[in-house]
Amino acid sequence: MSYDFSFYMPVNIIGGSNILENNKGVFSEFGKRCLIVTGASSAKKSGALDDVVAILDELNIDYAIFDKITENPLTTTCYEGGRAAREFSADYIIGIGGGSPLDASKAVCVYATNPQIIDDGIYTEKVENKPLPLIVIGTTSGTGSEVSGVSVLTRKNGRKQSVSGKNYYAKYALADAKYTYSVPFKTTVSTALDALAHAVESMFTKRADFLTTQFALVSIKMIYPILVKLNETQNLPTQEERDILYFASLYAGFALNKGGTGFPHGMGYALTEDYDVPHGIACAVFIPQYLNECEKANPTLFKQVLDAMNSDKESVEKLICSLCDLHISIPDERIKEYVSRWETLKNFKNSPTEFNNEDAGILVKKLFS
Ligand SMILES: [Fe+2]
Repeated sequence: MSYDFSFYMPVNIIGGSNILENNKGVFSEFGKRCLIVTGASSAKKSGALDDVVAILDELNIDYAIFDKITENPLTTTCYEGGRAAREFSADYIIGIGGGSPLDASKAVCVYATNPQIIDDGIYTEKVENKPLPLIVIGTTSGTGSEVSGVSVLTRKNGRKQSVSGKNYYAKYALADAKYTYSVPFKTTVSTALDALAHAVESMFTKRADFLTTQFALVSIKMIYPILVKLNETQNLPTQEERDILYFASLYAGFALNKGGTGFPHGMGYALTEDYDVPHGIACAVFIPQYLNECEKANPTLFKQVLDAMNSDKESVEKLICSLCDLHISIPDERIKEYVSRWETLKNFKNSPTEFNNEDAGILVKKLFS
């Protein structure tokens, strides 16, 4: 076994209880004016927005709220957010929410200081000026966006695509699981499946190393038994289980940030774009097949995953199938279109075997026709 690893994590992550109240100084570190970037409801519902606003008021920091971020945020909306930040003369950005608002807030920071980058230009244009500093506060247990240098956005043509690199890291992640306590059951399941997919996929990629594997295994060990319980009871998790899920999603984020994702994430985007399948479910539904490939590629590591789950391959497949509970039917024509589109999908190259776009088409047909 190789113990080689490298770990780049420029985000200052402060996690635990009452993190905002106990770290107010963070909010005055970057200036006196900030733009809060969030979605329509979760930041308010979680209590995070009220807590942030109370602290900003106390510190005499002027703020404006940009709450137009939707699920699968559009580059055009993020561009608009960047313009709002410029017009408000924001010194920094606070991103509050699940994966969509957090990913969007990273892009807003880039657009804000680079007016030459417009809409889909974020994928191709050079980031000439340093993005605005960003503080992120997560409200779901899945994305790991808090600790990654990745922003997944949706192009004007409706296709999801990520943009990543050193310009897409937050300065601070303030990680307090209490902001996940109001997440409803279905979103809890979908986001937990997303975190599980991050952990499992990243472990077997070409970029994985000793450290990412350790983070992923810890994360799987924390998430899996809670998923089993959620499936059995169909009840919301306890607060303690919410805490576990939240921090496990960050550990999976550490693994993901280095290892990247395999084909489940690449393929999952299509189900979200065309069938509105929540991101976590859209990716996790391909995890059983991914595990089959992983078993062929690295049986030792595969066994470690099953040990971490304290389960076997058949039970894992059954559980994921039951939690995903997907009933969509994809016509042959569309599957053909996916196969040709996936010819250039990088996630296949990052996966551990030769599983390719043609195999992916067969899998989609098996699952959804
Ligand atoms: Fe994901």
